[in-house]
Amino acid sequence: MHKDIDKILVSEEDILNKCEELGAQISKDYEDKQPIFIGLLKGSVPFMAELIKNISIDMEMDFMDVSSYSGTEQSDVRIIKDLETPIRDKYVIVVEDIVDTGKTYLKVKELLYAKGAKDVKIVSLLDKKERREVEVVPDYIGFEIPNAFVVGFGLDYNEKYRNLPYIGIIKPSAIV
Ligand code: IMP
Ligand code: MG
Repeated sequence: MHKDIDKILVSEEDILNKCEELGAQISKDYEDKQPIFIGLLKGSVPFMAELIKNISIDMEMDFMDVSSYSGTEQSDVRIIKDLETPIRDKYVIVVEDIVDTGKTYLKVKELLYAKGAKDVKIVSLLDKKERREVEVVPDYIGFEIPNAFVVGFGLDYNEKYRNLPYIGIIKPSAIV
């Protein structure tokens, strides 16, 4: 285990098994729909890579990078890297590392519908339900986790720990 990690919350084995389960379910639900998976950079990369190994139907993929910022009252997302693939009339599956307040996904969903998507759903490795501030219910969830700051399998703290093959809680001493 990495020296800055206090506790492993979700093991690598559990993540890999969950990706198999989610992949099988999505492949069944989207048979003949040729969905496009849209990963939100950078946190979704390891999850996307593992998930699509378990997708047995034809699919496409693309990535988007958005950053959330809270202005006065309303929080908004800014597009840092936009899609390269047209999504008009397509079945879109957003791939996220975690849904926390829900604000990022809510905005991204609006954006994707504005680009003409036929249907937008989300698969998220983690769901921190307790922290939800807007009404968002992820369609496919890997693991529901308690209200703690987690890292690994794509999730970072100051851009570190994305490479860890498990989801862990960092030691307070590692938080600057
Ligand atoms: P939301 O808009 O509040 O749902 O935030 C989602 C984004 O916040 C995720 O894509 C992550 O990048 C980040 N985030 C939320 N909770 C955590 C965490 O525990 N560790 C690392 N990043 C997190
Ligand atoms: Mg993110």
